[in-house]
Amino acid sequence: MMPNAALLAELEPTAAQLLERHLATSKEWFPHELVPWSLGQDFQPDYEWSPDDVELSPEVRSALFVNLLTEDNLPYYFRTIERMFGADTAWGTWARRWTAEEGRHSIVIRDYLTVTRAIDPVELERARMAQVECGEVPEPQTAQDGFAYVALQELATRIAHHNTGKQLEDKAGNDIMRKVASDENRHYLFYRDLVTAALEVDPSGMVLAIERQVRTFEMPGTGILDFEAHAKAIAKAGIYDFAVHHDQILVPVVLRHWGIEALEGLTPEAEQARAALVKRIDRIGKAGRRFASRRDERQLAAV
Ligand SMILES: [Fe+2]
Ligand SMILES: [Fe+2]
Repeated sequence: MMPNAALLAELEPTAAQLLERHLATSKEWFPHELVPWSLGQDFQPDYEWSPDDVELSPEVRSALFVNLLTEDNLPYYFRTIERMFGADTAWGTWARRWTAEEGRHSIVIRDYLTVTRAIDPVELERARMAQVECGEVPEPQTAQDGFAYVALQELATRIAHHNTGKQLEDKAGNDIMRKVASDENRHYLFYRDLVTAALEVDPSGMVLAIERQVRTFEMPGTGILDFEAHAKAIAKAGIYDFAVHHDQILVPVVLRHWGIEALEGLTPEAEQARAALVKRIDRIGKAGRRFASRRDERQLAAV
């Protein structure tokens, strides 16, 4: 596996190019223009939230809760990213720009949830304190692992926001989640193409890293209070589950876009990792289909 400093130096021109593309394709936008302020009212000091304040399924509520807390925590990934990439050159510029954009996401989602009262503001604030205080951020051991993780994570986040938005019934909510998802898409494209370039520079090191990251992948929401229960609800609503993970990330990106199966000249260790990775993706696909058909049966039975 190529040492971090050598890999980062080799890929710096690629990072500079991808940063430039990112900036050229991003359009400035403002959270305050998307939030439906006219729905808002002052909160009385003794206000007690009730789920009846707004009609919304508990599953979609879970998704909004987890999506927002994830966004709240993302700027703290800056510590890891800056340590890994360094503060100078295009790497540093990218890390700071990314952090600023992630901050915008939590601003717009929180303002939306506050004015619409879709979520208990007290529970949300306590959960944010707990989430940020526990300081849980991924700590990839190598730059290769870091690239692989963030590529998967940005796409997963984009899908989660997009699917959550589709289940909201109001236009403001749809627009906000779509806007955030389109930023996540640009983040994903930056990292996806960085991984493609890294696969050329250090194919074996990258395959080992991708295998490790797929094997241990977790949505960035771990560390959120009751994360397991929320993740179950989110899967139940079909917003993010194994089938989505397999069909919209692992197959189109890892297998097709990165062309893992067609790579040549791998070390024996990387060959082994690739075989394990392909097998794992297949197993995740099977589990996803099983889970989805059980869900469909349950939904039919409930009708
Ligand atoms: Fe984000
Ligand atoms: Fe992002």
